[in-house]
Amino acid sequence: MGTSENLQAAFAGESQANRKYLAFAKKAEEEGFGMTAKLFRAAAEAETIHALAHLNVMGGVKSTAENLQVAIAGEGHEFKEMYPKSLAEAEREQNEPAVKTFKHALAVEKVHHGLYSNAAGVLNSGKDLPAAKIFVCGICGNTVLDAAPGICPICGAPKTRFVEIE
Ligand code: FE2
Ligand code: FE2
Ligand code: FE2
Repeated sequence: MGTSENLQAAFAGESQANRKYLAFAKKAEEEGFGMTAKLFRAAAEAETIHALAHLNVMGGVKSTAENLQVAIAGEGHEFKEMYPKSLAEAEREQNEPAVKTFKHALAVEKVHHGLYSNAAGVLNSGKDLPAAKIFVCGICGNTVLDAAPGICPICGAPKTRFVEIE
């Protein structure tokens, strides 16, 4: 492995550590270990700094027009290839919790692919997207413009589970 592969691997590992530590922090809060939760959140923040430094060294952040193409390709791969395969395998293995999370992610990556594709089209004409509210479903991640739906069309969660993104 050369430095380029090492940077890729380090970026993946640091990114995962960030999310894992945030999940651990939430659990520590629930268990009443507030200071341990804080330590997890501090390390999570530090892993983000490491992840972003590796990504920048890799040249992984380009212009927004280029970044949107990377994002479109990634979301497309996920909803057309990766998640359909993962979903089929989870169904064969009758792993219902995995079937559910794969189904949710597949449907939402498709939404993201559409939103990014639209953004790329608008950006091509030199403009930013028109102002709109954006809401994310706290259960499945469904990403919706303007207003949260009464019931999430992907997972059935009520409107109250949606959070507005600033
Ligand atoms: Fe780190
Ligand atoms: Fe996505
Ligand atoms: Fe949802």
